Amino acid sequence: MAVCKITDSTHFVGAIDWHRRLFDSLIPLPEGTSYNSYLIRGSEKTALIDSVDPSKYDELVANLESLGIEQIDYIISNHAEQDHSGSLPNLLARYPQARVVTNAKCKGLLEEHLGIKSDKFITVADEETISLGDRHLRFIIAPWVHWPETMFTYLVEDKILFPCDFLGSHLAPSQLLVSEIDEFYEGAKRYYAEIMMPFRISVLKHLDRLRSYEIKIIAPSHGPIHLNPQPIMEAYRQWASDEVKNEVVLPFVSMHGSTEKMVEYLTTGLIQRGIAVKPFNLVVTDVGKLAMALVDAATLVVGASAVLVGAHPLAVYATYLANALRPKVRFLGIIGSYGWGSKMLDELKGLVTNLKVEILSPVVVKGYPKEDDLKALDMLADEILSKHRQLNIA
Ligand code: FEO
Repeated sequence: MAVCKITDSTHFVGAIDWHRRLFDSLIPLPEGTSYNSYLIRGSEKTALIDSVDPSKYDELVANLESLGIEQIDYIISNHAEQDHSGSLPNLLARYPQARVVTNAKCKGLLEEHLGIKSDKFITVADEETISLGDRHLRFIIAPWVHWPETMFTYLVEDKILFPCDFLGSHLAPSQLLVSEIDEFYEGAKRYYAEIMMPFRISVLKHLDRLRSYEIKIIAPSHGPIHLNPQPIMEAYRQWASDEVKNEVVLPFVSMHGSTEKMVEYLTTGLIQRGIAVKPFNLVVTDVGKLAMALVDAATLVVGASAVLVGAHPLAVYATYLANALRPKVRFLGIIGSYGWGSKMLDELKGLVTNLKVEILSPVVVKGYPKEDDLKALDMLADEILSKHRQLNIA
């Protein structure tokens, strides 16, 4: 992608990865992604904010060349993950006078992961500022969104916040500079769910801290650049808040139809009680969509078949994933079916150690669900309604 001017001092010089479909060998990227790198030219010094994934190094260099850049003084590293830092060794070889500016924790990770020598760094502390002449960069140490070393950079004169992954989106945007969030809301929410949700307490803390900064532009390291910062910040506040919705997320796997019948029956019962339901057949589910559904829901119900006597691996995976993502769900239900014996209830309960949930009455049946089993599902639907009413959301 060609460079994109943001302000007189600042250009996007990163790369769009239109065709990447998986991140971290885990996260689906249905709409690709971008690695946003920014060049800031002050009257005396030039700084690059983050680099790009190593696969896109040549594109970054071509963009720098197109701006006539022969010298870089500072390469700001907000985050050590390699989609932003992986080009640093090549950049340092090409611009040997450049120094990597980062915090002590990030320095340690870059030394360990990329073998960058200690004398290549300038280490900065929280709220420290460096001068580019007529422009100044201030650093805001912001751990745990989403690694322990994460940092934001603030361009004081232009009032641009560079928050790296925070407030970003895995989108390959044909339009980089955006003022409205509507078209990008789902991508931003998916990104929050997959990357930031486990750290929602840190998210809220950092959002509060940013209130003391006047921010005109948010320039994250993935996806569109926000010329209107408020909508994305408000969306994050909402997603990270304790507020839950009258919704049930229902990931399930069914081997011979019994669990699916239970899921269909419960789904209908919940809808009849005015509760929104999002069922996900785990055989075909995009786990990003499942993660996104978990952002707001009050209740998670896992539907599982038994394999031998344990839970089906896909049900284990979905439960493990929910536990890792730490959504704010309040209630957990477990339903399912087994052939001759089952330990899956204890197995699945044992996987949710991170979730602060009340476990609802399980409905785990032998074979195809019978009349009494369907009655038990009615009772589970009643229980969910009652719990949601106690939260004043139903
Ligand atoms: Fe975009 Fe955590 O790297």
